[in-house]
Order: sequence, then C-alpha cells, then structure tokens
Amino acid sequence: MKKGHGIGFGKAILFNEHFVVYGIPSIVSAIGNYTVAKVEPYDKSGFNLDDKRLSTPKYKEEKLSQQTESFELMFKKMGLDLSKNGVKITLEGNLVAASGIGASAASCVAVARALADSYELDLSDEQINEIAYEGEKGYHGTPSGVDNTASTYGGLIWFQKGEKNVIDRISLLNPVEIVIGNTGKVTDTKAAVDGVKQRKEKNLKKYQEIFDRAENIAYLAKRAIQDRAYTNLGKLMNENHKLLQQIEVSSRELDFLVSIARDAGALGAKLTGGGLGGNMLALTPGKELQNKVATAIEKEGFQTVKTVIGASRENVE
Ligand code: PMV
Repeated sequence: MKKGHGIGFGKAILFNEHFVVYGIPSIVSAIGNYTVAKVEPYDKSGFNLDDKRLSTPKYKEEKLSQQTESFELMFKKMGLDLSKNGVKITLEGNLVAASGIGASAASCVAVARALADSYELDLSDEQINEIAYEGEKGYHGTPSGVDNTASTYGGLIWFQKGEKNVIDRISLLNPVEIVIGNTGKVTDTKAAVDGVKQRKEKNLKKYQEIFDRAENIAYLAKRAIQDRAYTNLGKLMNENHKLLQQIEVSSRELDFLVSIARDAGALGAKLTGGGLGGNMLALTPGKELQNKVATAIEKEGFQTVKTVIGASRENVE
C-alpha cells in the first residue's frame, strides 16, 4: 500500500429528510465544506485514528464507537484484511463534525476514497457510494443512503430510495448561498428515525396526509430550482419545516434559529438532517443576505457555516 487521500462532501438535505426513509423523493445538496481523509501504513494490526476535524463539543466522543463500527464495515466491504498490517487514518478538512450536515457520510466517503487510493483499487463513484453506504450503517442502522450519495457525487441531487435508488442530478447554473445554523446539540439520527416510525404506526391516517404533502413539495421544489425561483423555493422550505414539526422531529432550538433566520430575511428556513437538535438551514442567495442571516444567528450565541448548495468536485480537487 502507498499513502492515499480522499474527500467527501458535507451535505444539506433541502427537502424531505425522514420522509425519504419511506421512499418519498428528497432533494439533497453537497455543500462547499468537506472532510479529507489521509491513509498511510501502520506498523500494528487494525487501524489507528487521528481525528483532527473541528467539531461540536462531545460529537467525536459520542460517535466514537459508531465510527469504529463504521470503519470495520467498510474494511469488510472492501475486502481489506488489516489483521497483520494496519492503517493509520487521519481526518481533517473544513467540514465541522456536527449532527445534520453529513459529517458521518463525508467521513465514510473520504475514507473509502483514501483507502481505494492507497491500495490502488480502481473504484467507480458508484462503488465508493456503496462502500460509504455500508459505513453509514455503523452510524444509522438502516440509512436511506441520501447522505452518502450527496457526499460522493457532489452537486444537487434528487434522491429516492427504492429497490434501486433513483439518483438524478438537478442542474444548478451557479452554487447558491445558504447559512447553516448549529443548535450545538449532538443528536442521534437512529433514535429520531425510530421515533417517526413509532408515531407513524400509531397515527397512520394523519401521517399519510403529511407524507403525501411532502411528496408533492419535492416535485414543486425541483421545478422551483430549475426555474431559479428562489422566493418560491424558500416558501416550500418553510412548508417542509412545518411538516417536519408535525412529525415531531424539530426542537425548540431549531424552531428558534429558523425564526431568527426568517426574520433576518432568509427566503426560507428549515431543520436539516435528523432533527431534534443538530442543524438548520436558511436559503440566502447573495453574499449580503447570507452575512445578514449568519450574523443574526451568531448574535444569539449559535455557530453558523456560510456555504453554498450545488458544490461540485471540480471546485475542490
Ligand atoms: O442526521 P443526518 O444528517 O445524518 O440525516 C439523516 C437523514 C434522515 O432522513 C433523517 C435519515 C436517513 O437515513 O435518510
């Protein structure tokens, strides 16, 4: 093996986190921040991790056992035997390790790419995505695959889980500014997904109506993106947030940050990712609006990331 390196994008789910688990179409974007993995030979068996990513307090500690499981799953999927010669893995990059921005998926994709580079395996993006999906299982149990897909391919993606997942690129002429606001709360996506499942089983009719509207919103949002109708897109994001509140995956902090962003002029704002904490996202085309919304959130003592949706690999490699 030689030294290897690889990147994986952070992601923001623009529409239909949670609903996506049940086959409802979702829209997800790579963001301009990414994780870099470096791999090199290690003189003992197994792996040695040096996690240099900036992170939300406690994130790395709380995710450590899931992360270990995730690496093991990926080694297995790649057919790597580390029982004699191990690997040292270093994680870095400008993606903060936090809940809701695809930190786990970005790390899986970056590590899969770095290992492929190091062992000189000529893997397609599709294969990298499959390996990263395997790694995501260490964190989520049964992930929909939306995160690793955005993290692997970059850009803006229409993703629908199914027997064979639908992965379609949505073209965006130029990346569009967004603000991601961090509640500072590390959350457990698996627990959030399980909660939705239980409530859905108890309230089938109510949930069916919510799910139908979520599906409808995905199609309207795709059209709005294609038409560059960002005001309309923002309204659809607001409506999507309402649906996420109805299935009880928002939180007091998320709703607070969402309202701050809207009051500061964001075209739309919603939670992003698993919810119950983690991150929210505001649509803020143009640097001026982006700064204004980020400043309003920061004034309340919360951290933000100013980035774009539609980031592609050509921009960073
Ligand atoms: O918590 P995150 O950012 O990994 O996002 C999870 C997205 C969900 O739709 C809630 C779960 C999934 O597997 O798609």
